[in-house]
Amino acid sequence: MSTALKTPPVRGRAPPPRAAPPPQFGGKPPVPRRAPPPSRAIPPTPTRGPIPSFVPTGAPHVIKETPFANTNYMNAASAGKLAVHQKHLTADVAKKGEEELDTTFRVGLAKGAVDDMVLLSDVTNPGIVRNLLERYNEDKIYTYIGPVLISVNPFKRMSDVGPEFIKKYAGISKHDAPPHAYAVADHMYRRLIEDQYSQCVIISGESGAGKTEASKLIMNHIAACSGGGQEVSRIKSVILESNPLLEAFGNAKTIRNNNSSRFGKLLEIQFDRAGRPCGGIITNFLLEKSRVVGQLKNERNFHIFYQILCGLSPDDKTNLGLTTPEDFFVLNKTGCYTVEGVDDAAECADTLNAMNVVGLTSAEQQSIFLLLAAILHLGNVQFHEVQNNASAVSNQDYLDYAAMILGIDNAQLTTKLLSRTVKSGGGHRGSVYEVPLSAIKAAAARDALMKGIYSRIFDYIVEAVNKAMTNVSSRQSICILDIYGFEIFEKNGFEQFCINYVNEKLQQIFIELTIQSEQEDYEREGIQWTKINFFNNKTVCDLIESRKAPVGILSILDDVCKTMHNEGEGVDLKFLQKLNSISHAHFSPGTNTFRIKHYAGDVNYHCEGFVEKNKDVLFKDLVRIIQNSKVPFLAMLFENEDVSEDSRKAPTTAGFKIYTQAQSLVSKLKSCDPSYIRCIKPNDNKRANDFDEKRVEFQVKYLGLLENIKVRRAGFSYRGVYKRFIDRYAICNVHTRNWKGDPRKGSELLLQNLRLPPDEYRFGKTKIFLRAPETLFGLDDLRDRTINHYAGKIQRFYERHNPERRRIIEERVYWFQQMYNLFCNAASTSDFGKSLPWPSYQWHLEEAVNWAFQIYRNWWAFLMVSSLNAEQQQQMRQKIVSYDIFYGKKKWPCNRVYYGNYLALDQFYSESAAYRQAELELLRNSGEKCVIFSDVVQKVNKTGKSQNRAFIVTADHFYKYTIGKKMKILKKPISISAVNKVSLSPFDDTFIVIHMNAPERDLCFDLNVDKNNKVAEFVTMLYQSYFVINNKPLPVEFKSSIKFFNGRTEKKEGIYNYN
Ligand SMILES: Nc1ncnc2c1ncn2[C@@H]1O[C@H](COP(=O)(O)OP(=O)(O)OP(=O)(O)O)[C@@H](O)[C@H]1O
Ligand SMILES: [Mg+2]
Repeated sequence: MSTALKTPPVRGRAPPPRAAPPPQFGGKPPVPRRAPPPSRAIPPTPTRGPIPSFVPTGAPHVIKETPFANTNYMNAASAGKLAVHQKHLTADVAKKGEEELDTTFRVGLAKGAVDDMVLLSDVTNPGIVRNLLERYNEDKIYTYIGPVLISVNPFKRMSDVGPEFIKKYAGISKHDAPPHAYAVADHMYRRLIEDQYSQCVIISGESGAGKTEASKLIMNHIAACSGGGQEVSRIKSVILESNPLLEAFGNAKTIRNNNSSRFGKLLEIQFDRAGRPCGGIITNFLLEKSRVVGQLKNERNFHIFYQILCGLSPDDKTNLGLTTPEDFFVLNKTGCYTVEGVDDAAECADTLNAMNVVGLTSAEQQSIFLLLAAILHLGNVQFHEVQNNASAVSNQDYLDYAAMILGIDNAQLTTKLLSRTVKSGGGHRGSVYEVPLSAIKAAAARDALMKGIYSRIFDYIVEAVNKAMTNVSSRQSICILDIYGFEIFEKNGFEQFCINYVNEKLQQIFIELTIQSEQEDYEREGIQWTKINFFNNKTVCDLIESRKAPVGILSILDDVCKTMHNEGEGVDLKFLQKLNSISHAHFSPGTNTFRIKHYAGDVNYHCEGFVEKNKDVLFKDLVRIIQNSKVPFLAMLFENEDVSEDSRKAPTTAGFKIYTQAQSLVSKLKSCDPSYIRCIKPNDNKRANDFDEKRVEFQVKYLGLLENIKVRRAGFSYRGVYKRFIDRYAICNVHTRNWKGDPRKGSELLLQNLRLPPDEYRFGKTKIFLRAPETLFGLDDLRDRTINHYAGKIQRFYERHNPERRRIIEERVYWFQQMYNLFCNAASTSDFGKSLPWPSYQWHLEEAVNWAFQIYRNWWAFLMVSSLNAEQQQQMRQKIVSYDIFYGKKKWPCNRVYYGNYLALDQFYSESAAYRQAELELLRNSGEKCVIFSDVVQKVNKTGKSQNRAFIVTADHFYKYTIGKKMKILKKPISISAVNKVSLSPFDDTFIVIHMNAPERDLCFDLNVDKNNKVAEFVTMLYQSYFVINNKPLPVEFKSSIKFFNGRTEKKEGIYNYN
């Protein structure tokens, strides 16, 4: 980056500069030590180096130099397509001459393949594919469609990732840089900070399209850009380390993807008000646990099994009876043991490290490995048929070994795998007997046990990560959704059905939130709009999930599970028979199968195993023996399982679980500002530089990219609130350059002066809409030119100046370089850089140092205030108002807590119960929302006598009550809008006069009945309410003689004289 701040070389001997003391905060803010008195001779400069192009960020209209400036991104105003449009766009007459600013507004065009496909000239599916291909060939894997990022899997390491690029994308406008996942992450983070609104990114695409990789880029960017501190760093490392850990247990090699996520994950990173990660929570969805007991050809089991077999120490492996993957039936059936380019031993080390980072103790880690070994050994247990439909264990040694590791009795385990306890008849008279299981059923019981243990280990690990991240009740978060992608296999089972259902839901959210929200925005803002038609896959979602008639497939499946108590053969066929009743354009039944026309293709599902997998229950007999295991960790994993025979509650089915999770996922995502990354898989060979156009076109079609582009083009490519728009582009025109007025008027004036065709923009109620993205790029281009023009002017001015002046400027720049180096990471320190020693400076820098000090103080205060909770912030706000009113005019106890409703608090008022009753009635009868202040005051009545009264203030009125056990309201309430001003003495007393507009009489009272000085609190509260009602500040006077009229007799005033 050209703004990199270098340390200039030292030249000659410089007198030791004076050191400025570190600023002190808390209490009274210090001022940097004054510099020595100015001397006529300017001291020799301590350093001299190239003047960096130093451009401060943050101030309005001040532009951060884009690190992509050299690429001339999106500023190329090449002739061509939009020349006609350009004709209209000549703004102020360009002045001639070298130094004159060229104020011509030119539409911005992108060169070659477009970064944003809204600009595409050939808006067809082949046109989209061509654009993606052209970019892909140039290693540009990302492309926008407006706010949506399309990502084509490169299947190779890209050069534009890593800390250096994270930095480049930090804080940069999306249009100032090539499309990237970092840009999406940065956009979300900025929105979170600036708008204080939760964000989410929905990453979708089929299996192997690059969702998980994209989610990691997002996490890395956010972790690198969001502040620091010890606890924040810890949370960040837990978030980042949770990736290898959950991938080890939840990912596997499939034929589609070498690192396929076999579970869904929603990571919610929570932030404090200063934008630092302060917690997080992971929600996991339906792990594909059937993989534990079997996989397709050329696929693997979950990575962790191969990792422990390659990576655990020889001793650990011997202790657990672990040898090589070839020795275990659940690993050796597919003939696939390794993954190209993956070192399982090294990955094991990463997993162990991640386990430590998330706080899994070594005892927990040992227990987890022990159970994984037990699963492998259990998988080797075989059964064979004996007479009468019963079975026997073929290799008892394996079962005994597994039982030993599991800490359960081998004979018991044998019995419970070979038979099942059945209860006939109800109540006490019912009899219990053992039903032998066939070899197939015994194997199914073994598989259920293995899957049950594995899925509980997985949940335990997710829970551990959640505990380590600490889940705080933060108001802002960024959610990153990475689920298993849509998949079609030769034989698709219950797992694919669930996976594809969740993908179908995500497609629906996308359609709903992009097209729908855009249309709603136009409606809200009063913009005319012609509706675009698109395929809404809600109908497919309903086909699967509907709970209302006609019920969907999941409900029918649950129904079959409920009615089929004895899972004999044929339950799946019963399910299929019931499905026959469905009449739906996207559904067709077959023999043993049914077909769904999904948004991403037709899938044939084999019904076999649907009912069993949906039931998802372990025999209670087996659970009971596990609960009594001598391995405490195993017993703990199952301790909450209900094993009572009389339990009438139907167990939750897997289908119902995924349905409810999908619903809550949808509502969670809808409560955030969404961003989208749509991943595309360019080939099925997992190969780099291989772009199968047909394969891509198929995805382009089902993702609905064409419709997406059409909607963006038919509508307005940019919409933004007026303030943001004018803040950014005011500089583009001489009439708006210093615009301080109404943002809408400024925006109107700007576009008028740029002479844009009126059809190119619309003014909504709160937002401006620009139709063509070229207009926006054109504005950016003009803005860049304007800034460069002024930067050039400043530079020339600087170069022309005398050497002394020049040296002073250099010294200033150098000082700011030092400051930058010193403070660039200050946000990560616990005291936000308060204890950092400021660099020394020469006398002539005093003004600049004071200026920097002000900036630092404001920034420090912002971070401090941001870390307060809502209640503390409210107190802080009140104290600031009190300070403004009272400072230097009357003594006020700054450290007192403002409780407000004192009468409701036992420690302040002995009859608080009576008060609370009276308060309840008051609120009920008056329609007031709440009491903001109440206390016993000593009121001065019209005859000059004082009486103790309960004084109650709501947002709009004063109420007077009697005090004691039965509080009675006195007279009618007095409206705060009738207050004229407040008078106080400048002395240390607690007497208040509230002057009222006629016909109300002034209120005079003393606020010191319980010896707590609440004057400042009361006046502050009144000041705030008055401001809300009257939209102007309440006059507060401090006088040693206060005149008042509280109605003794007509025209006779009372006077308090303090002199
Ligand atoms: N941006 C990228 N840069 C480099 N390689 C990538 C990128 N995206 C994906 N890949 C490669 O593609 C593989 C598959 O990607 P990823 O695991 O992210 O797919 P996925 O969409 O999450 O699939 P699934 O639904 O099966 O989990 C990665 O292991 C990696 O090798
Ligand atoms: Mg994945």
